[in-house]
Amino acid sequence: MVTRADIGVIGGSGLYSLLDDAEEVKVTTPYGPPSDVITVGRIGSRSVAFVPRHGRDHRFPPHRIPYRANLWALRSLGVRQVLAPSAVGSLRPEIGPGALVVPDQIVDRTSSRAQTYYDAGGVVHVSFADPYCPSGRAAAISTARSAGWDLVDDGTLVVIEGPRFSTRAESRWFTANGWSIVGMTGYPESILARELALCYTSLSLVTDHDAGVEAGEGVTHEEVLAFFATNVARMRSLVTDVVTALPQERTCLCATALDGLTLPFDLPE
Ligand code: ADE
Repeated sequence: MVTRADIGVIGGSGLYSLLDDAEEVKVTTPYGPPSDVITVGRIGSRSVAFVPRHGRDHRFPPHRIPYRANLWALRSLGVRQVLAPSAVGSLRPEIGPGALVVPDQIVDRTSSRAQTYYDAGGVVHVSFADPYCPSGRAAAISTARSAGWDLVDDGTLVVIEGPRFSTRAESRWFTANGWSIVGMTGYPESILARELALCYTSLSLVTDHDAGVEAGEGVTHEEVLAFFATNVARMRSLVTDVVTALPQERTCLCATALDGLTLPFDLPE
């Protein structure tokens, strides 16, 4: 039988594996190979496909991640709901390292990335007013709350191009705009998920205060990786619990995101 999964997890910095007893699947896509082989296994009653966002050896910097291939590969394995753990910086003094943010909005400050599947063969405009899956967010929030996380249950994630971190002025400007956290990978991952009618939920682990925050001294990649590493067990356990809390049936806006649109190709089933 062909290997299938219904939930996808895209593991961030430091989260390079999730599943024990997993089958490794090499998937090819019209957009090239995904970041690495995909592992497919079970968590409780749910089948899960895991892809390490940066590759297992962390070879892809944020602006070079094959985002389109990753989401296409997951959908072609049967995935319809995606969990996206990632490391982020905090733009507010009151949100400290170790907090989990489940953002409800996103601001795109990237510049060089392929961010659509619909760039030829017809015009497709996908709604993105609410970029995250409401059901996935609800499952993540209640799970994290029960597990005792220092939880921020909303907020705006600004995604920068990277790979450099922000200047103090940029960081202060982000804060002044009311945004909560800053990362490098949440876009175009989120819109590409929506363009394939997938549910997408960000699980943003705060690893540092960004440069403009009073408490922040300017962050380094080593610090981010080291902090994430000390939190991997917690993140793994959170992801596992959120997987089992996701609804079996999709009644959210993500599932119907493409209804009524004329697509230039068939989506992978
Ligand atoms: N990922 C983790 N910390 C970050 C920061 N301060 N800025 C951008 N991406 C990050």
